[in-house]
Amino acid sequence: MVEVVVGTQWGDEGKGKVIDYLAKNVDIIARYQGGANAGHTVVVNNNKFVFHLIPSGILYSDKICVIGNGVVIDPVALFEEIEYLKKNGIDVENKLYIAENAHITLPYHKILDQVEDKFRGRGKLGTTGRGIGTTYTDKYARIGIRVVDFIDDDVFMEKLKIALELKNYLFKEYYKEEILSSEKIFKEYEFYRNEMKKFVINTSLYLNEEIEKGKKVLAEGAQGTFLDIDFGTYPYVTASNPISGGACIGLGISPKKIEKIIGVAKAYTTRVGMGPFPTEIKDNLGERLRSIGNEFGATTGRPRRCGWFDAVLVKFACIINGIDEIVLTKLDVLTGFEKIKIGVAYKYEGKIIENYPLNSKIFSNCDVIYEEIDGWNEDISKVKSYKELPKNAKKYIEKIEEKINVKITKISTGFLREQIIER
Ligand code: IMP
Repeated sequence: MVEVVVGTQWGDEGKGKVIDYLAKNVDIIARYQGGANAGHTVVVNNNKFVFHLIPSGILYSDKICVIGNGVVIDPVALFEEIEYLKKNGIDVENKLYIAENAHITLPYHKILDQVEDKFRGRGKLGTTGRGIGTTYTDKYARIGIRVVDFIDDDVFMEKLKIALELKNYLFKEYYKEEILSSEKIFKEYEFYRNEMKKFVINTSLYLNEEIEKGKKVLAEGAQGTFLDIDFGTYPYVTASNPISGGACIGLGISPKKIEKIIGVAKAYTTRVGMGPFPTEIKDNLGERLRSIGNEFGATTGRPRRCGWFDAVLVKFACIINGIDEIVLTKLDVLTGFEKIKIGVAYKYEGKIIENYPLNSKIFSNCDVIYEEIDGWNEDISKVKSYKELPKNAKKYIEKIEEKINVKITKISTGFLREQIIER
């Protein structure tokens, strides 16, 4: 059967570490959406690995990793990652499969992503500039190039010419950018086309066959619920569906096959890029969270905005994802804070709001109602069991559970594989 791991906030919840931890009990790890905008960090034996496209499970020699059809693949980023893994003694051949119906990110997607965001002016989204939204746009405009087209020279050239006719018109006439040559891209990507062939299969058929044989699949979501194109803080969202439902579409598996949904929540909240963030801390405490938690984007290096845990958001995430249990990460970062706040409701024009409002006018302008608990000073980074945690840390965890109505089953207290408490 299938277990899904989803982010319950704005991404960067620590899913990479959680997936790495859970991967030991499964056979296949499959990524279902997003692209090289994601950055999953895993530290093993003092080696830090940052994955953008390849599932974090690749570090296990006996696991298969799948990049599903819902992912958008930048071949340059993919092969940089493959090369980096090779240099670190990890060979991905026969361990990685790529969906033939996933879409490919090409140079014009990356350029367009960057210039479009510049042209948005006041409405700038602060995208990662990795060509994610523009690749998905082409997918839905039906001028996208899929993996299966990319690895066939004739089809690729034909589709590339069609796509570039429109893009070059935009570059020349509107954005005043240099136009691109299909011949040049065709040549530059020859290496990637040839190399990619080794990995390409019908991954949905493969996954279903393996599930039928009794194999366990861990479906890995990138980003988080509030970056979801449908349920996130639109338009300040990514262009895919990180929520658990996205796993069915992005892998080609039936909802009937999903057995468990695991939500990952950071013990506080962070956000990269633009968009409303009610519990954001704008003073020194926010700086303190950023520096202790090393809150800088794994993909772009941008400083992450930091704030208190928002239980209204995570409660909504638990509902729409159908979350069975929560893994709470980076609890150690809160050590030493005298008081810790939890956002438990919002207030807008005198009215109390207990559920996440999809209306962005309300969400952008509401005040937060907080509950406050006393902090702790004890070092928790080596704690191995729940009962050894300081009393106030336990109070904090239990308060969160009460607010989100879902059990916290694991607590991560550091970036190392072994720094995780099973409850
Ligand atoms: P895009 O996904 O590059 O289009 O960016 C859209 C928004 O999603 C921006 O605010 C990004 O900062 C944010 N975003 C995309 N990927 C991630 C991620 O993996 N972690 C956190 N934020 C992300």
